[in-house]
Amino acid sequence: MKIGIVGTGYVGLVTGSCLAHLGHTVTAVDIDVSKVEMLKKIQVPIFEPGLEELMQPLVGKNLFFSTQYADFSDVDAIFIAVGTPSADDGSADLKYVYTAVESLSLVLKKNACVILKSTVPVGTAGKVRNILLSQGRTDLMVVNNPEFLKEGSAIKDFLEPDRIVVGADKEEAFDILEKIYAPLVKTRNCYLLKMSNVSAELTKYAANCFLATKISFINEIAQLCEIIQADVEDVKKGIGSDPRVGALFLNPGPGYGGSCFPKDVKALIYSAKQVGMDLNVVNAAEEANKRAKYYAAKKLEKILENLKNKVVAIWGLAFKALTDDVRESSAIYVVNELLTKGVSQLQVFDPEATKNFMSYFPRENKIKCFDSQWDCLKNVDALIILTEWNEFKTADLTKLKTMLNDKPVLDMRNLYSLQSVEKVGLRYHSLGRK
Ligand code: UDX
Repeated sequence: MKIGIVGTGYVGLVTGSCLAHLGHTVTAVDIDVSKVEMLKKIQVPIFEPGLEELMQPLVGKNLFFSTQYADFSDVDAIFIAVGTPSADDGSADLKYVYTAVESLSLVLKKNACVILKSTVPVGTAGKVRNILLSQGRTDLMVVNNPEFLKEGSAIKDFLEPDRIVVGADKEEAFDILEKIYAPLVKTRNCYLLKMSNVSAELTKYAANCFLATKISFINEIAQLCEIIQADVEDVKKGIGSDPRVGALFLNPGPGYGGSCFPKDVKALIYSAKQVGMDLNVVNAAEEANKRAKYYAAKKLEKILENLKNKVVAIWGLAFKALTDDVRESSAIYVVNELLTKGVSQLQVFDPEATKNFMSYFPRENKIKCFDSQWDCLKNVDALIILTEWNEFKTADLTKLKTMLNDKPVLDMRNLYSLQSVEKVGLRYHSLGRK
């Protein structure tokens, strides 16, 4: 099929590349001229394992990049994958979606299918339909097809989906989505979950809010474990082995971040309020996450007794491993809090995210960036681990002990077994364990 993509951000680029990989002819349009030029040369502006390799054989063959909406004139279906950032009141700002729809109404061929891939609040498909009607485009179909991919494993998530959610109000629209995803349905034995537009819109928010709640839940349990001397890793196994709870997404950490959970949690709370409902559970998950993001600084202050004039190393700035994304990363909150509490220097290392991180602190001369996880440990009073990168998980603990001597490690991802740190004599603090 001939498919268009509006927006070459995270979701747009992965969706376009994967659909081309499945054999469709894909044209992706972005208004950012320099980005499009880079993509034409297969210079990928984001760090996503496997993406560049996937694009290599496709670009110029059946995957094209452009800045012109006119290039969408013969597509059968078009995915809108532009950003829906949080407005100040927590609502999702839909200006990029609506601008795209207006532009598309001028170029799309008869009976094309407009697919909302961006995460959009309940009711957006209806509003998009109204815009199209006001432009005289009664022929175009409007579909919601929310994306569930995770940064760092985006390609696998797209090509091996647990489910494909499709919201529409016409059989013909479902038929088009069935054709688009036919290669996946055939090879992966997955199926389309067909529903109304509003149900599909809510499914995406509900999924992210549920996962965010699961993380906030285990983070609070971890904090409780510290008070009552329980071990959260044992509790996690104990509850996760019940399939009704499930073992995945139960890792305690420094609070959830990224481009989706924080934004989507806020947006669902806002949407529900608009229709007169307080989402108490989701509200509580958000509140707990705020506390989780400051917990590392609070814990370190307790360990060191005083943070004034201390030098602290940080391993991990990205909001999670395998990404260079620092949006809403706990590292930003932890660093701000440590600076407020008077540390004299922060020595930071991340395998991919340092540049993005420093754009949040352009003039902060108390932050020193390092190219090596070991060099950043010189002369520090403590090390905090915030991201679960593999190089931290597999770090040589004897070397860590030698470098830190009696200085403490605060591991906010519980990367090491208590036996292994005890064996080398590391002064070790983790989350909800001791
Ligand atoms: C998320 C959803 O998982 C995905 O389905 C949706 O499409 C986009 O949002 P992503 O933002 O890439 O994906 O990250 P994810 O892996 O879900 O992690 C989100 C945050 O939760 C990270 O800060 C991560 O460190 C944290 N997390 C995750 C935990 O603290 N514990 C866990 O057990 C899992």
